[in-house]
Amino acid sequence: MLGASARTGGTMTRGKDGAMTSGTAMKGGGYYSLATVGAKHVIDGATPLVLEALAAMAPERAKGLFTMADMGCADGGTSLAMVEASLRAVRKAAPERPIAMVYTDQPTNDYNALFQNVGTRLEAIGNLTVFASATSFYRQILPPGSLDLGFSATAMHWLAKKPCDIPDHVQAVGARGAALEAFAAEARTGWGAILASRAIELKRGGRLVLVNFCKDEAGNYLGWTGGVSMFDTFNRIWRDFLAEGAITADEYTRMTLPQYYNTLEEFSRPLKGPDGPAYGAGLRLEHIETRIVPCPFAADFKHHGDRARFASAYIPTLRSWTESTFHGALDADRSELERRALIERYYGTYEALVAAQPEGHGMDYVHAYMVIRKD
Ligand SMILES: C[S@@+](CC[C@H](N)C(=O)[O-])C[C@H]1O[C@@H](n2cnc3c(N)ncnc32)[C@H](O)[C@@H]1O
Repeated sequence: MLGASARTGGTMTRGKDGAMTSGTAMKGGGYYSLATVGAKHVIDGATPLVLEALAAMAPERAKGLFTMADMGCADGGTSLAMVEASLRAVRKAAPERPIAMVYTDQPTNDYNALFQNVGTRLEAIGNLTVFASATSFYRQILPPGSLDLGFSATAMHWLAKKPCDIPDHVQAVGARGAALEAFAAEARTGWGAILASRAIELKRGGRLVLVNFCKDEAGNYLGWTGGVSMFDTFNRIWRDFLAEGAITADEYTRMTLPQYYNTLEEFSRPLKGPDGPAYGAGLRLEHIETRIVPCPFAADFKHHGDRARFASAYIPTLRSWTESTFHGALDADRSELERRALIERYYGTYEALVAAQPEGHGMDYVHAYMVIRKD
């Protein structure tokens, strides 16, 4: 049961991931879930898909351990309601089956915050054990043929490594030419590795529900659905820092987020039969669609109309997933105090900009929702 601390706090670690990129951790201490209510909306919206996938799997028809994993879980707060609903559905369908819930993320993740968020919430489900594994989703995390339901949200756009610095932007959406090709190639290799690992882990009939950032059919992506481009704003402020001499040219280019947003075609390609490698490994794409989940802070602003309130509520969500990359881009010979001061000024500048002219700012979420079956 969850109440037994030796079992709830256990960490199944498969060792260090040499491919891990530094500077990609979410801000810890529970900050992540507090600042990212939009990510919770995304997962809440995916819950019906998860429940449908579970119903199709019919857990009552099998015996033995039922294993669910949340890959790239951060502090677990955003997925907890979905996890609880899913495992309650398993328990209802299969009262006798023991359940393992495995939270997985990078070794740098704040697992204390995770276990604090999960707390005793899943305890009432009964005959359930919670684990964590500090293993990258680019590798095999679980034993072969052991996973029933794999879930991941808003995580697989983080690449295993940064293929190069982007000379004139902070994110691949602003990359061109060779830099763009390098990012697309890295994402292709990574997506192949993710699928290959999951193909090994999944039981026959098991499902993956993956909710990944994407570039949708209309060219929308996170923070760009019309209005002010979030990534262009990040870039403009960083470039202004360079222009005024606050940062060096190296620091400017090093601030390259190791991320890439696949198109639906890029997500689907390895899953297309008969030649796709993931298809060959038994994975079948049952469902793929894109959805836009509106920025909750911009939506609130429409109601309250308070510019300063919007700016101060909105910036922490951007900060939660970019701060460690900005911090890592700064020269190692700068003192920690100096780095912190630059980072504070950076987000302060973004906040002042939004407060002065809030119209068009916001971070709408643009995702591909996929359900994948193992045959
Ligand atoms: C934006 S958070 C999403 C958290 C949560 N799934 C949600 O939707 O709210 C992205 C998470 O992916 C994790 N992540 C990034 N690269 C990863 C990797 N290679 N393996 C596992 N987790 C990774 C980060 O550490 C972070 O916790």
